[in-house]
Amino acid sequence: MPVVTIKPSNKTITVTSGSRLVDAILAAGDTIAEKCGGKGECDSCHVFVQEGRKSLSKLQRKENEQLDQIVGIGSKSRLACQAIIGEEDITVELLGFSSGR
Ligand code: FES
Repeated sequence: MPVVTIKPSNKTITVTSGSRLVDAILAAGDTIAEKCGGKGECDSCHVFVQEGRKSLSKLQRKENEQLDQIVGIGSKSRLACQAIIGEEDITVELLGFSSGR
């Protein structure tokens, strides 16, 4: 089962493949906002994936469009509510960032 490491807290959690990234972060005891209720319609759950990007589900159009609206995003950006964890370990960085949308 994949291990998710969360920065900067360095909390880790072992999850089952197919879990949403946002659920793993919350289950690890870290804090992340879900202002739109996990619908991919805001940016409150924006994270940087430092390692294991290929283990996450592919970007879908809705998530890609939402990320396009965030200033300064890069290829490491994901919306944690839209990213499904695969088989490999991943490391994500919480940004504490939100434009309030
Ligand atoms: S909670 Fe709104 S995009 Fe993830």
